[in-house]
Amino acid sequence: MRELEGRVALVTGASRGIGAATARALAAAGARVIVTDVSDASEVSAEIDGFSLRQDVTRESDWEAVMAFARAEAGGLDILVNNAGLFLQKSLANTTLEDWRKLHAVNVEGVFLGCKYAAPLLTERAPRWAGGTAIVNLSSVAGLVGAAGAICYNASKGAVRIMTKGLALELARSQVRVNSVHPGLIDTHMGQEVLDRTAARLGVGDNEARTRMARGHPLGRLGQDRNIADAVCFLASDRAAYVTGSELVVDGGFTAQ
Ligand SMILES: NC(=O)c1ccc[n+]([C@@H]2O[C@H](COP(=O)([O-])OP(=O)(O)OC[C@H]3O[C@@H](n4cnc5c(N)ncnc54)[C@H](O)[C@@H]3O)[C@@H](O)[C@H]2O)c1
Repeated sequence: MRELEGRVALVTGASRGIGAATARALAAAGARVIVTDVSDASEVSAEIDGFSLRQDVTRESDWEAVMAFARAEAGGLDILVNNAGLFLQKSLANTTLEDWRKLHAVNVEGVFLGCKYAAPLLTERAPRWAGGTAIVNLSSVAGLVGAAGAICYNASKGAVRIMTKGLALELARSQVRVNSVHPGLIDTHMGQEVLDRTAARLGVGDNEARTRMARGHPLGRLGQDRNIADAVCFLASDRAAYVTGSELVVDGGFTAQ
């Protein structure tokens, strides 16, 4: 039996990048996966024989609808991956209150709403599994260390990190485990945004920006979406049965420097 056989997982922001890779990895481990995104995620769901739903994580009514779907069509929920996120590279002086609120609406309020609406379903199904049920929140190395010119993103990912720990304590007796994952620079659409900014700042081309960013990571390469998906699958599985409130750093050694 595959290790996530019989479980139902929900991954937000899963039409591409880390979310799509995570949906594929969870499905490969045997989970039935609901992929959601503000964009169309049906290509990913078709690939893995899962479900796809349009969902804006900032909208409470969308969370209600997604949880009603999980209950009615999939029988409940065992794993929530709060992956949807936005990036913003702007100096303090250039960051507007509107920028701040828009980013926090997705990166922080989206995670809060996901945890709030999924917790009752996860609590119901926790007794089924040796390791209980699981929430995995996507934070970042930017939730651990500062990133010049990205204070808004820093603040949002720091909030995810500490919200994860508080919630882990609140849900521990229900056997719902809550952990965060902290990727370094991963080669996705968002990763490309970081590379484009770096190239512009240094006045170099994409290849040179990639080489320099890779050099900044002790393993000497950028991360791949699959590297993060593997970490999420571990935290979602019974192999992590005694892991809650923790932060799993997957950054090629970036924050060890
Ligand atoms: N790529 C990196 O280098 C990196 C590093 C650290 C952390 N992360 C985090 O990992 C997560 C995934 O990043 P990625 O690199 O795959 O990014 P990505 O930009 O490739 O994908 C993000 C997805 O989120 C979706 N999304 C955005 N706003 C949404 C909303 N309101 N509701 C629902 N979906 C929404 C987008 O449509 C997109 O499909 C994010 O939380 C990001 O902050 C990424």
